[in-house]
Amino acid sequence: MNNIQHFNDLLDEKDILSLADDKAPFLQDWRGNYTGDAEAVLFPRNTEQVSAIMRRAYEQGIIIVPQGGNTGLVGGGIPDNTGRAFVLSLSRMNKVRAFSEANRSMVVEAGCILQDLHKLAEEHDLYFPLNLAAKGSCTIGGNLSTNAGGVNVVRYGNTRDLCLGIEVVLCDGRVMDLLSPLRKDNTGYDLKQLFIGGEGTLGIITAASMKLFSLPKARATALAAIPDIATGVELLGKLQSASGEQVEAFEIMPKTLLDVVLKQFPDIVRPLDPIPDFMILMEIASSDARDGTEDEAGRIPILETLEEFLADSFEAGLITDATMARNETQRQQLWDIREHAPESTKRESNPVNSDISVTRADLQRFYDFAVEEVKKVCPESRICSYGHLGDGNLHFNIIEKEGGDPDWQAKKEPLKAAIYIALAKVKGSISAEHGIGVMKFDQLKQVKDPVALSLMSQIKHLLDPKAILNPGKVID
Ligand code: FAD
Ligand code: LAC
Ligand code: ZN
Repeated sequence: MNNIQHFNDLLDEKDILSLADDKAPFLQDWRGNYTGDAEAVLFPRNTEQVSAIMRRAYEQGIIIVPQGGNTGLVGGGIPDNTGRAFVLSLSRMNKVRAFSEANRSMVVEAGCILQDLHKLAEEHDLYFPLNLAAKGSCTIGGNLSTNAGGVNVVRYGNTRDLCLGIEVVLCDGRVMDLLSPLRKDNTGYDLKQLFIGGEGTLGIITAASMKLFSLPKARATALAAIPDIATGVELLGKLQSASGEQVEAFEIMPKTLLDVVLKQFPDIVRPLDPIPDFMILMEIASSDARDGTEDEAGRIPILETLEEFLADSFEAGLITDATMARNETQRQQLWDIREHAPESTKRESNPVNSDISVTRADLQRFYDFAVEEVKKVCPESRICSYGHLGDGNLHFNIIEKEGGDPDWQAKKEPLKAAIYIALAKVKGSISAEHGIGVMKFDQLKQVKDPVALSLMSQIKHLLDPKAILNPGKVID
C-alpha cells in the first residue's frame, strides 16, 4: 500500500524522506535492539503541519510513530517492521517561542535539543536543570514524552515537575492549547499529565512551557568510596541536611562500571587507586556566587562545606576514600566517567539492562536479593549496577563475563527474570525513567494494578480510537 501521496501536498519535498538509506537512522534505536520499517519519515516545520498530517492520518487510518532525537531506550520511537507506518520526526520544529525572565519560564517547540535549552537559559543567567548523557541529541518533546529523569532529579524532579504547560496535537488533528506558563491553574483535570510520559501513544507534543531556575554559580563535586549501598543512602541524607538542601546530583557507580569505562575509553582519567567496589559521585551547588569565591583566608565556602562533610564521613567510617574536584577540568573528569556509562556498557557487551526504582530505604535489600538471584542463573556474569541513588533508581545491568560467554544470548531472559524476582520482593517499579515502549509492553500487564490498566486502556481508546498513534507501545 502506498500512502505517501496523502502527505505530499502537506510538506515540502525536502521534509519527506522515503529512500531506504535516508530513513535508516530513524528506524533503529540507539542500542541497536529494535529495528523497524516505515514508508517515510515526515518532518513538519510547525504545529499547523502536524495538525494537517494527523487529520489526514486519521481519515486514512495511517499509523504515525512520533520521534524526537531517537535516544529512547525502550524502543518507543521505532515503528514495527511491516513498513506501513510513518515516522513523524519533530526534530525540525525547534523554535523558541517565548522566554520570560520574570516568570522564569520558556516556551519551546518539541524538537529543541536539550543542550541548546541549557545554553539558552544560561544566556539569560538562568538554569534548565534536566540533564542526561544524551543531552546533545535528545529533544524536549522526547524528554516530556518519556518523563525523562537524569542526574539532577534529586533536587529538581523529573521532566514532569519542570513542565508548566504543553501544546498537543490529537490523533484527529485537533490542537489542544495547554501551553500557558501559569504557575497555578486548578481549572479541572490536569490533562497535560496524560501526555507527559505518554510515549507518543495519546498525542503529539508540539511545544512546551518549561520552568527555569537560578543558575548555579558555585559547585563542589567529589567522588567518594563507600562500603555498600546502604551507606550511600545514609550519606545522602546527611549531605542533604549538611548542605542546606544543595545536593544537585548523587550518583552511584560500582567498580565494574569504572573498569568497563576505563577499558573502553582509555583517555578517561582514573579517579581513585585502587578503585573501590562502590563510589558516589556527589555534587552540591549554590546560586550565590559568594559560595564559590575565595575568602580572605583563600578558602572557597562551597568547597569547604563538601570537604568538611567528607572528612566527617571518613571519620564516621561512611566513606573509605575520596577525591574532590578543585577546578572545572577536574569536575568534568569526574562527570566524564558517569556520562560514558551507557556507551561503555554498550561497547563492552550486549548487557541485560534495567531501569528499576525502589524506595531509597529498600535499595540495599533489592540489591542483595538481585545479586542472589543473578548468581543462581549465571555466577560468572558481571553486575554493573549504577544510577541515580538519590532517586532510588538503579540501572541494574548485567554484563557477560570478561572475554565473552558463548551462551550469553540464552542466559539473557533468565537473568532479566532474576532482576524482576528481586524487584517484586520490595515492590519496586520496572521503569523508573525510561518508560515502557515495546521493551516492557508485555511486562506492564503483569505488574500494574488491573484497575489502573483498564483505565489506561479506556484512556487510550478515547484519545486514539483508530489505534493510529504509536501502536504496540505502552498499552493496547
Ligand atoms: P525519542 O527517543 O525520539 O522518543 C522517545 C519516546 O517519546 C518515543 O515513544 C516517541 O514516540 C515519543 N516521542 C518523542 N517525541 C515526541 C513528541 N514530540 N510527542 C509525542 N511523543 C514523542 N533517560 C533518562 O530518563 N535518564 C537518563 O539519564 C538517560 N540517559 C541516557 C543516556 C544515553 C547515552 C542515551 C542514549 C539515552 C538516555 N536516556 C535517559 C534515554 C533518553 O535519552 C530519554 O528517554 C529521552 O528523553 C528521549 O528523548 P528523544 O528526543 O531522543 O526521544
Ligand atoms: C543513565 C541512563 C541509562 O542513567 O538512564 O546513564
Ligand atoms: Zn538513568
